[in-house]
Amino acid sequence: MNFDLIINFSYLIAAILFVFGLKLLSSAKTASKGNFISAIGMLIAVLATLIMKEIVDYVWILVGLIVGSLIGIFAAKKVKMTGMPEMVALLNGFGGLASLLVGWAVYYNNMQIESFTASTIFLSILIGGVTFTGSIVAWAKLSEKIPGRPTLFTGQMILNSLILISIIILGVLFSMYPTNTYNLLIAIIIGANILGILVVIPIGGADMPVVISLLNSYSGLAACSAGFVIQNNVLIVSGALVGASGIILTSIMCKAMNRSIGNVLFSGFGSITTKPSDKEQGEVKSCSAKDAYYVLEAAKSIAIVPGYGLAVASAQHVVKELADLLEENGSDVKFAIHPVAGRMPGHMNVLLAEADVSYDKLVEMDDINRIMDSVDVCLVIGANDVVNPSAKEDPGSPIYGMPIIEVDRAKNVFVLKRSMASGFAGIANPLFFKENTTMIFGDAKKTITQIVDEF
Ligand code: TAP
Repeated sequence: MNFDLIINFSYLIAAILFVFGLKLLSSAKTASKGNFISAIGMLIAVLATLIMKEIVDYVWILVGLIVGSLIGIFAAKKVKMTGMPEMVALLNGFGGLASLLVGWAVYYNNMQIESFTASTIFLSILIGGVTFTGSIVAWAKLSEKIPGRPTLFTGQMILNSLILISIIILGVLFSMYPTNTYNLLIAIIIGANILGILVVIPIGGADMPVVISLLNSYSGLAACSAGFVIQNNVLIVSGALVGASGIILTSIMCKAMNRSIGNVLFSGFGSITTKPSDKEQGEVKSCSAKDAYYVLEAAKSIAIVPGYGLAVASAQHVVKELADLLEENGSDVKFAIHPVAGRMPGHMNVLLAEADVSYDKLVEMDDINRIMDSVDVCLVIGANDVVNPSAKEDPGSPIYGMPIIEVDRAKNVFVLKRSMASGFAGIANPLFFKENTTMIFGDAKKTITQIVDEF
């Protein structure tokens, strides 16, 4: 068997492992297996590429593997669950930067190239540059290094369009006259990086997870273009897979928020927040953990609705303990999961899996809404926007039309949160004022621990 055949066969195996890995990632049950299989695919792809190109000595391959793995293990252990979107933003950014550098390096080393190669270099630099700086801005917004609010100014869309059109014109010129036009390429690199910043600053912090998913898709497209630049099949395939899966995830998230991608990118959602006005809405009832215990103790069916506050309070383990106690007490306990609860897709699933909550206890939004009228108690833990009835009752609300978990239809609702503060969308929640709702103010972990102690 010749050497090229072995390398291409390795690429094929890697691509098959990526596809299987992605398939397994679509269910929480099989996700970690999918991640592992994809990682093996990536290892095969990296090794085959380094061996084929004879780029570096084997010792360096080994050193790179060890250093990369150590950084990966350290980051995975150190980053908190709530910091995961930031970490994904950084990883996307590095992916974009890598594609930009590949395109740049290939041209830098040989300025006598064909138009086709020049056009792929242009694409990998344009998409890679936008992904790189866009992801860094997304990271900075999410980690509160810069304000998370949309930054808006007059003529913003016109300026962004003009920059994009100029870059495309430069790209066409570069592709038509690729010999010794290094200055054009430098202008494209600068323009792409500026564009990345400008397209992400008008987007609000709450929409950042959607943008990160979109940038993830871009990083795949940039890698795919870089694959054409260096004619590497596995990079083309894996880039296309990342590009496609990122765009599918983006559209699932937009659908779950009842928004279009255009609305997320251009509406400046979150720039104006409405303060909850208590007077307009009526009285808020609150009670202690002990009072809640008496109601829970007598309840036959209980739905726990987790949200971002569960992650902030790290209350997943104590929630599992409470669920076990309630079941021992004869109640039917379900966890109702909203697709955009928390700050990243599957956020609640991951948290609850960490606490060993069995998958068959997790119920999707539509399924729990179907039986909501028969639920005795809804325990809303650190969730706010995803249970906000304005989404179905108030046509003037910014979240009107977003599907929600309709906890207000349950017989009793306990809302565990620290204050009357709004959620990420920055809007008031009439649920807190409803007849059947009682607030239990305080950190969710503390409150649940107190209820557990009562049991
Ligand atoms: P949010 O609406 O953000 O509400 C979280 C609530 O948790 C806050 O109101 C906060 O109230 C409470 N909280 C914070 N720390 C707490 C603690 N230690 N103990 C108890 N409560 C605590 O969360 P949600 O209902 O999960 O909704 C998610 C939001 O993110 C939606 O607007 C969604 O559209 C948006 N979003 C999500 C995604 C994905 S993929 N998940 C993507 C894009 C956007 P207090 O401060 O009063 O405690």
